[in-house]
Amino acid sequence: MDFRELATRRVSVRGYRPDPVPDELLEEILDIARMAPSAANRQPWGIVVVRDEARRRALLEAYAREWMVSAPVVLVVCVEPAAAWVRLEDGWNAAETDAAILTTHLLLAAAERGLGTCWIAAFSPSRLKEVLGLPGHVVPVAMTPLGWPADAGRPKQRKALAGILHRERW
Ligand SMILES: Cc1cc2nc3c(=O)[nH]c(=O)nc-3n(C[C@H](O)[C@H](O)[C@H](O)COP(=O)(O)O)c2cc1C
Repeated sequence: MDFRELATRRVSVRGYRPDPVPDELLEEILDIARMAPSAANRQPWGIVVVRDEARRRALLEAYAREWMVSAPVVLVVCVEPAAAWVRLEDGWNAAETDAAILTTHLLLAAAERGLGTCWIAAFSPSRLKEVLGLPGHVVPVAMTPLGWPADAGRPKQRKALAGILHRERW
């Protein structure tokens, strides 16, 4: 699959078959994700892998959608802002951008292997921190179920290139 096809085929999956995701496949996807770039190569991230059914169901306290836990794995991408690069002029912290790139790599690596994912940000951060026992300085940025898709997802809807492009200046 070339990159255009992969980027086009990846869709948010909101329904999963119960079939297990083999450990080796999960490890491979996580290993690819860690190749993501980060500002000043700080890699301020961590990934929580949730396989245990009771803990997966506990995640519903943070994001109450059954489809999320229909997948056999849920991944939570976190960052430590204190470990991330900070831009000098305005103090901008790259942590969440770094986490977003890692998550994107993860989603695409999964899609390349036929696995479904769905980026989730609409969770309760306080409840998620509690369920996963995250220390105070660790920020959850994204969660995603990981599993075999039960449906094809929604059709892609994107703005036309001409609608987002600004040539030479905005
Ligand atoms: C930062 C971010 C946050 C998102 N949060 C949620 C979410 O909380 N729940 C959800 O169902 N989908 C969420 N999505 C998925 C988007 O709705 C989805 O990517 C978008 O509609 C485009 O569809 P596609 O992923 O199928 O191409 C999120 C996506 C991104 C990038």
